[in-house]
Amino acid sequence: MSKFLIAGNWKMNAGLEEAQNLCEELSGRLKGIEITNEVLICPPSISISTVVKGVENISVKVGAQNVHFEDNGAFTGEISTEMVKGSGCTHIIVGHSERREFFHEDDQTVGLKTKKIVDSGLTAIVCVGEKLDQRNNGDQESVVMNQLDAVLNSITRNHAPNIVVAYEPVWAIGTGETASPEQAQSMHLFIKSLLKERWGSARADEVKVLYGGSMKPGNAEELLSQLDVDGGLIGGASLDAESFSEIITIAEKLS
Ligand code: PGA
Repeated sequence: MSKFLIAGNWKMNAGLEEAQNLCEELSGRLKGIEITNEVLICPPSISISTVVKGVENISVKVGAQNVHFEDNGAFTGEISTEMVKGSGCTHIIVGHSERREFFHEDDQTVGLKTKKIVDSGLTAIVCVGEKLDQRNNGDQESVVMNQLDAVLNSITRNHAPNIVVAYEPVWAIGTGETASPEQAQSMHLFIKSLLKERWGSARADEVKVLYGGSMKPGNAEELLSQLDVDGGLIGGASLDAESFSEIITIAEKLS
């Protein structure tokens, strides 16, 4: 089995001091544990350098939560892929539902950003997922297919090693409500079939599909045990060093 990717999305939490404290606590808890899976933390951009330094003694990578699709220029408030890369990041989250909803990112923008990220050699964690009414109408697969196709159309199968997909049902994000292991497995299988159809099996197999939406120590084992769940994108529980290290330990146990 390929390695899990356990990724923490701190969202707009943890400035310099809190980021440093969190890294110290996490380093303390993970010291002595052999981490064979990939572990990633995505702090707010202001805290990236602090976290890069804070995790240098443990096997944890650092990612960003967003970038612009241009290289530089008059885009007040934005940061570029090269800036993120230069600060020591390996991954960038793109198309998170909060960015789609509050910052009006559409599928086309998500496609442009993804292309910029993979062209720079970084890995894009592409978030897809349906809203509650879409699931209630039985439209979850068509919603996810459209979101994913917008990305796949902007890159090629050769970019597969630099793509991770995160299935995050919007109704499960930050709500305490989680997709059932069966719902997660079924959507992950659908995403992988779609990737196979578009890119062929060999390339599709290189893409990890993460689950995100209220993953925590209490439900991580059953979610990560599903055949097509290759890891987690974890918001709330990643801000607590004890919970996050517990999830990392659970993933190690299942590996
Ligand atoms: P949550 O967030 O774990 O707090 O639900 C997940 C995410 O939005 O990436």
